[in-house]
Formats: sequence, C-alpha cells, structure tokens
Amino acid sequence: MNISFKAALAAVAIPFAMTAVNAATITISCGNNAADVEFCGKFAEDWGKKNGHTVKMYTPPASSTDQLALLRQQFAAKSGDIDVLMIDVVWPGVIKDHLVDLKKYSKGVEKDHFPAIVANNTVDGKLLGMPWFTDAGLLFYRKDLLAKHGVKVPQTWDDLATGAKKIQDAERATDKDFQGFVFQAKAYEGLTCDALEWVYSFGGGTIVDGKGDITINNPQAAKALDAAASWIGTIAPQGVLNYGEEDARGVWQNGKAAFMRNWPYAWSLGQAADSPIKDKIGVAALPAGTGPGAKKAATLGGWQLAVNKYSKNVDAAASLALYMSSAEIQKKRAVGGSYNPTIPSLYKDADVAKANPFMIELLDVFTNAAARPATATGLKYPEVSQAFWDAAHDVLEKKSDGTAAVKKLEGKLKSIKKASW
Ligand code: GLC
Repeated sequence: MNISFKAALAAVAIPFAMTAVNAATITISCGNNAADVEFCGKFAEDWGKKNGHTVKMYTPPASSTDQLALLRQQFAAKSGDIDVLMIDVVWPGVIKDHLVDLKKYSKGVEKDHFPAIVANNTVDGKLLGMPWFTDAGLLFYRKDLLAKHGVKVPQTWDDLATGAKKIQDAERATDKDFQGFVFQAKAYEGLTCDALEWVYSFGGGTIVDGKGDITINNPQAAKALDAAASWIGTIAPQGVLNYGEEDARGVWQNGKAAFMRNWPYAWSLGQAADSPIKDKIGVAALPAGTGPGAKKAATLGGWQLAVNKYSKNVDAAASLALYMSSAEIQKKRAVGGSYNPTIPSLYKDADVAKANPFMIELLDVFTNAAARPATATGLKYPEVSQAFWDAAHDVLEKKSDGTAAVKKLEGKLKSIKKASW
C-alpha cells in the first residue's frame, strides 16, 4: 500500500461541526459507500452536537483487505488519527493489541447483542469491539426477469447456472452486455467469503475447522471451486475476477444482471427512489451445492466499532462507539440503510421488518451463517485467508483445477500453521 495514510485521511475527512472550546475532535471510520456516509456520518454528527465535540468522518478504502493494511501501518506508527475504528468480524484476534477494552464503558450493555458476536469480539477477556451490524451473503434476483423467462428461484448452484444462462441468452437479444450472475471474485477478503460459501454449500467444510485442523483438501471443496470456475465467461463476465462488492452492485443496480451475490446493504440502495430496479428485487438464501453434505450456506460477515488504543480521547471515543452501536441508532441504520442489527429484539421491530422483509424471512440464514476460521487461526488469519483466496482465484482463472488447488493450499496452510496457529 503506497498511499500515505495521513494524505488519504486529509483528503476524505469531513469536519461536521465547529470546534468547541476544550472539546475533543473525534475521527470515526465509517464505511465506504453512499449509504455508509449518510447512515454513519449523520448520526456521529448528532452525537458531536449533543456532547460539544467535533466529529470528523474518515472514509476507509472499499476493500476489507485494504482497510486492514492501512490500519496496520497506522498501528505500527502508534497513530491516533482515527479514534473510533470500524473493524471487520474477522479482525479482533488480529489487531487485539491495539484496541481498548470497552468493558469499562459498556456497563454490560453488550448483553443486549447476539452472544456469538460478543464472544467473537472478546479476546483474552477484553471486549474489543461493540457489535455494530451483522452480515450474511444473500442471493439477490430480478423478480420481473425470473417471471418473464419462467425461471424459479434457484435451490442449487446448478439451478442458478441454468436459470442465469436462460435469462442472459434471451436478454442479450436486446442488451448485449446483460449478465446472468455477478459476485465478488477479486483476489481479496470478499473472495474468501464467496468461495467459503461455495465450498461449505458443497459440504466441503470451512478451510480450517474449529479445532484448528486444516480440512480444505477434500473432493467436495474441489468440486465447489470447479463449479464456480465454470461460471466465468458463461454466466458471469470475465471482469468478475476483478469485482468487489460495489463493482457487482454497480452492474446489478444498472439492471444489467439477473442474479447477484452480495450483503444486505445492497437491498436499500437497490430500493432507492432513483434505482432502475426498485421493486424488482427478490432476496433469497444462496443455493446449495450437490453431493455428500450439500446444503445452503452463507458466510458470516459484519462490523464492530472499536476504540484505537493510541487515541488521545479514549473516553469520548468510547462514548461515540457506544452511541453508534445503541439500539436507537441500529434501528435507524436498519430502516434506512438495511444494515442488519446485532440486537435480537430489533428483529421484532415492525419498522425494521417493513423496510427489510428479508431480514425476518431469512432470519435463519443470518443465525446459521458459516464463520470464517478467524478464531481458530488467530493472528495468522490474514495469511490463511490470502492463501485461500489466491487458490480460489487460480481456479477461477483456470490456472489450476479444484483438486490441484486444494491440495496445494493444504501444503501452504501447513507451512503457515507450523506447530500451531
Ligand atoms: C463485508 C462483510 C465483512 C467481509 C467483507 C469482505 O463487508 O461484512 O465481514 O469481510 O464484506 O469483502
């Protein structure tokens, strides 16, 4: 990463309030898309006004992988430039030494959140992040086009490939750029999420299991990767090999794809007043694989708010993190931005349900989502994930077949693990 962190920060920081005398200036890292800016910055600004602090918003890079690289540079320099950090669900064990224990500030309020997320964010007894929103991979489909071409919502990946091809072939008569299926296949953390869904849905496990054993070298995992490779250039554009979430959403929201794999945030943006596909969107669980152990699967994602240990204003930063993760703000973010709450009671809230029917209809997708092996591999998770996405990318690019790729990956993971994670 050759972008200077400070320069990047200066370029995107937006002062929200005039500096009050003796007040703190708190920088919070929000997400990267238009909704993140609106549904994070706006509420942080309210907190600043109420408490006499100035809030600056930092917009991180779009990819989780790039965000982590920037954060690590920052931590190495003991920089307190960003006070409140949004951290990915797979990071607590990786950056644990640089975050404040929030227990002193939370006063037990974490008990209102999903226990599994609180457990994920608790390392060595320290609460390193307040749950902010949770995620699981979903299948978005064009209700109108499925009806027009007589295609049913796919139950298996084979169904999806057949249905996507049928719609794509027909739509290309009038729109030569139309795509059957778009997803995330750039070499980054997002591909780890997509490829874990393929592998797990074929009964091929979770790369490394809960005990820390490397499980990826198995026929079902190989078959899953081969199935995904068969989509490239047939139902998905070659360019998908360089797509992140927002690239896929761009194609989808322009009305140029029949199916998309993405996270819940894509719902509210697709339903916006100026969206060409408003009211044409269906949401379903991702399809199942085929063969022994096949099932529907979604990767668990999500983000937490943490306080940087090097912040000059830890108390104010912790107060902002708690405010932003409160039920009041989570409800507003769910209704306006379709960010899944981390507070179970909000799933019974009528406004949340009305704005996001899928959150209730697909509740079991969220509660049964497959975790990436971050807890088992601890500090080494980023290397494990990179080895996995590289292997998946090689198969998608047809540099390797699934069987050879999972065998080579097993060797790579053994050399990362050595005696233990
Ligand atoms: C989403 C998920 C996050 C995941 C990332 C990958 O932001 O919430 O957990 O790592 O996508 O691109």
